[in-house]
Amino acid sequence: MDKLVIEGGKPLSGTIVIQGAKNAALPILAASLLADGTTTLDHVPDLLDIDVMLNILRELGCRAEHTGGTVVLDTETAHISHVPESLMRQMRSSIFLMGPLLARFGETQVYQPGGCAIGERKIDLHLEGLQALGAEIEELGNRIICRADKLRGADIHLSFPSVGATENIMMAAALAEGRTTISNAAREPEIQDLQGFLNAMGAKIMGAGTDTITIDGVQSLTPCRYKVIPDRIVAGTVMVAAAATRGQVTLQNTQPAHLSSLIHVLRRAGVQIVVDGDIIKVGSATRPRAVERIVTSPYPAFPTDLQSQVMVLLALADGVSVLKETIFEGRLKHVDELSRMGADIRVDMNAAFIRGVPRLYGATVEATDLRAGAALVIAGLAAQGKTVVEQIHHIDRGYEKIETMLARLGARISRYSPVPNN
Ligand code: EPZ
Repeated sequence: MDKLVIEGGKPLSGTIVIQGAKNAALPILAASLLADGTTTLDHVPDLLDIDVMLNILRELGCRAEHTGGTVVLDTETAHISHVPESLMRQMRSSIFLMGPLLARFGETQVYQPGGCAIGERKIDLHLEGLQALGAEIEELGNRIICRADKLRGADIHLSFPSVGATENIMMAAALAEGRTTISNAAREPEIQDLQGFLNAMGAKIMGAGTDTITIDGVQSLTPCRYKVIPDRIVAGTVMVAAAATRGQVTLQNTQPAHLSSLIHVLRRAGVQIVVDGDIIKVGSATRPRAVERIVTSPYPAFPTDLQSQVMVLLALADGVSVLKETIFEGRLKHVDELSRMGADIRVDMNAAFIRGVPRLYGATVEATDLRAGAALVIAGLAAQGKTVVEQIHHIDRGYEKIETMLARLGARISRYSPVPNN
């Protein structure tokens, strides 16, 4: 397994262009199945999760190429409606293929995605939403068989604003008969991007970004060319790394409005942030201040996907901060690893009480999930001495060549791939 070796203590500096959003590209790739022909997507990052999604689409009969950030996907030859279990297990979020496959073929078979390090990852809201549109769902062990002769519009209320469930319902409803409304819908920018893509294909969807989305079903959709939004979580990760190393970094190709909650937190911590169009400048020459209380909640509140990264900054802050995780029940596993680097953090239920320390010390640590891994990289950049981050395949799921990106900002970081003992 690859590992990253980091020599900490050097402030990041320079300019970086932010990659396209993984969590926008994945549902958009799934939605491409709703039309026959060639869809072209620009600004798609080169990530393990994108590779898995493209492999699933190829298994279903599509032709897919991903070169230089552009995906060309021909769905004309898609003829299989069942998603292989082995591929589903590689990426849980492939569950949002159910909606497009059901709309295209009238039936699909997928598998329970199962839990992961950060939580149970339930899919009850996905299934309830598709049933409301007229789908019959049968669960045989971990297999989920879904059939619908005709999908019909419905009024759907989500008990929790689930991102994936909102996306699945939007995609299934796009070709349903009549109007669908989703109330208490997720409001994330990636939902807005999915609406933009579907409408570019000829769908009639309104309200994405608010808590009520209206979809008027149409007869058919047409493939299109579309550019994916910037990745707000990668941008946020770089911003925290700049602050934690007391550097000066300029981020290009961002949408600052998608990062309002993080910008607010960083400014409360004493970090200088300047926003100018799609450029964000982050600077910090002094020790950060503690931030009394941060609670992760659905967008536009503070995102769970930036919780572990901000915890590293607070671990170095002057004072005591409280970080409460309300989205995933298992998303504080990075605390143990940070404590091994000298952080002073106490966890009680889903809240972390962080007493800032003057410095962290390099150690060998293990990534337990995508964003926890990114947080450990930030800790290594800020720490005194050498840090080795193991199990970095988690990080490669969401960050395009993270060591190259950070080295471009002056970080002393290298990837080691152990030679297979043949
Ligand atoms: C999306 O996951 C993102 N993934 C996650 O990013 C992100 O953390 C999450 O939204 C929250 O913002 C993608 O977009 C591919 P949810 P998703 O459905 O759709 C519960 C990353 O690091 N829930 O909003 O799975 C669920 O258990 C990843 O890039 C149900 O109870 O998130 C969880 O506690 C990690 N029933 C909460 O809702 C359901 O049917 C949030 O889940 C669905 C979800």
